[in-house]
Amino acid sequence: MMIAVLLFFHILSAVVWVGGMFFAHQMVRPSVGPLEPAVRLALWRRIFALFFPWVWTAAALLLASGLAMEISGIRGIHVTIMESLGVIMMLAFAHLYFSPWRRFQRAVDGNDFAVAAVQLNKIRRIVEFNLVLGLIVVVVGATGRYWGYAG
Ligand code: HEM
Repeated sequence: MMIAVLLFFHILSAVVWVGGMFFAHQMVRPSVGPLEPAVRLALWRRIFALFFPWVWTAAALLLASGLAMEISGIRGIHVTIMESLGVIMMLAFAHLYFSPWRRFQRAVDGNDFAVAAVQLNKIRRIVEFNLVLGLIVVVVGATGRYWGYAG
């Protein structure tokens, strides 16, 4: 029962974080491309201001629930891979948040759209990196327990 509760938080957090990145990158980014830079950059500022608190929450819940499952005895090479890639994703996100995101916010608020565009590009590259890792981690996490299953 406890594992089911931990998995509940674990899976929902993964869906929110990875799904949010997929939607931002694959749907929002191409859709806002034609907008004027001032409008487009301000829109990204509002989108990220709403999304990033969810990412912090998801990352904290993934780590806490994942470690709790490990301590409860669910282990394996897939868990080690998931944990390692998950921690890399979290470090990449923390860097994104405290460096380009802070600068991006300041630049948009000061109407410095050239600087904002440079910072947004950095954010995009980190999101791409985390999106690829996140998709891999989800598959590893969900299939890993069957890797040794022959039937
Ligand atoms: C950061 C440290 C993490 C730890 C310690 C951890 C640990 C675990 C453990 C112990 C399981 C259960 C595995 C099993 O039943 O065989 C699991 C499942 C899973 N994890 Fe993680 N995880 C972490 C991060 C992540 C991240 C970042 C994601 C996705 C973004 C993720 C996605 C999943 C998924 C999709 C499952 C499969 C759930 C299921 O189908 O039962 N995990 N994780």
